[in-house]
Amino acid sequence: TSYDLDAPEVDSGITWPPRRADPLLPPPAFDEVRARCPVSRVSLYDGSAAWLATRHDDMRALLRNPAMSANPRVGGYPNSSANHSASRNTQGGFIRMDAPEHDVQRRMLTKAFSVRQVELLRPYVEQLVDELLDGMAAAGGPVDLVAALAEPLPARAICKILDLPSSDAAFLLGRVATWMNLNSPPDVSAQASGDLAAFLDNLILRRLEKPGEDIVSHLVAQQFQQGAISRQDLVGMLQLLVVGGFDTTANMIALGTIAFLRFPDQAAELRAHPELAAPAMEELLRYLSVAHHVASRVATDDIMIRGVCIHAGDGVIAPIPAANHDPEVFEDPHVLNIRRDARDHVSFGFGIHQCLGQNLARIELQVVFVKLLQRFPDLRLAVAESDLDFRNSMIYGVPELLVTWGEA
Ligand code: HEM
Repeated sequence: TSYDLDAPEVDSGITWPPRRADPLLPPPAFDEVRARCPVSRVSLYDGSAAWLATRHDDMRALLRNPAMSANPRVGGYPNSSANHSASRNTQGGFIRMDAPEHDVQRRMLTKAFSVRQVELLRPYVEQLVDELLDGMAAAGGPVDLVAALAEPLPARAICKILDLPSSDAAFLLGRVATWMNLNSPPDVSAQASGDLAAFLDNLILRRLEKPGEDIVSHLVAQQFQQGAISRQDLVGMLQLLVVGGFDTTANMIALGTIAFLRFPDQAAELRAHPELAAPAMEELLRYLSVAHHVASRVATDDIMIRGVCIHAGDGVIAPIPAANHDPEVFEDPHVLNIRRDARDHVSFGFGIHQCLGQNLARIELQVVFVKLLQRFPDLRLAVAESDLDFRNSMIYGVPELLVTWGEA
């Protein structure tokens, strides 16, 4: 027997998105449903239904299946809210494309984001983090760690890659924040994405006139001028580079700080053993799974998985936190343990859309946490953790994080 989406046997009882109990952990409903019915039905905000896959192996099987489209314009694509749907539809770039178009465009960037290339940026990231921490120290606590560190770091790193002055970082951050904010009215959100597109289109023109050594000059000369990509698609690609690295990295830094403050033994371990930075960040990525609403797809063909038939046109949600907290893959998944081997996490997604910027993100996280914990060994929250405003947007995080240090 196989079950369809309307079979009562597969009902998870969940209306998407489910609620968290502990702000640092995935919603408990994932554990309950994974044990009972690992590929189940969820209800969406508009009353429609979609599939929910909560196991690590099923998530990977689905995301590597070519019958799973990432294009939100395909009917049945599962959105989390009306605003989510509106902002997704203004989002261009190959993250929303399927093969083969996706692969052609992504390939234009793989070399620039290879481990080898982004490692060349490590000294710059170290200098940048030192500078931002100096700024925090000079300001004195309490300081909003999001505004002082978590947001400027990824923004200035991408400015470096695009060879933009770091003074452009604030503009980019502001536009992306408004665009991606699920509370922005759709027209405000569309305006912000339009402003960003205009800025990037102008950047393309500037690099056409006066090429440099940066990635945009390279794309303009090697791809755009050769007719391999349209101007509009190039704008979409650059928009994706800017958007992809902001909220994700910033919220890893903010939530990671909260996690290290909640588990001081883990912070002490990393402070004493900075050589653990790489595995520790894999574990932090797994534990926090900040891209909690990201890996959604729509089936373009019928597929069978774990006794259910996913029909063409069915939406599929494969939440990253559910896969990363699957006890069959990670023992005691709800425990943060920087000494565990967390390499199999799917925090950067899986399959053809697996994060292009992951090597850059890793460097930023490795550098920032070692330096932050060493520089401010007595760092603490300036507000109670229970008073923090954890927001339920596409990327999980906190918009503000007041921290302090030194004498009370
Ligand atoms: C894709 C997470 C940082 C650029 C993705 C996906 C995830 C993700 C889960 C897959 C989305 C899907 O399957 O629908 C993260 C996390 C980050 C991070 C957790 C930080 C800790 C970055 C950075 C950049 C970036 C720094 C760029 C500079 C991209 C791009 C894609 C992507 C371009 C689309 C890849 C494709 O469709 O082929 N990211 N990301 N990300 N990310 Fe990241």
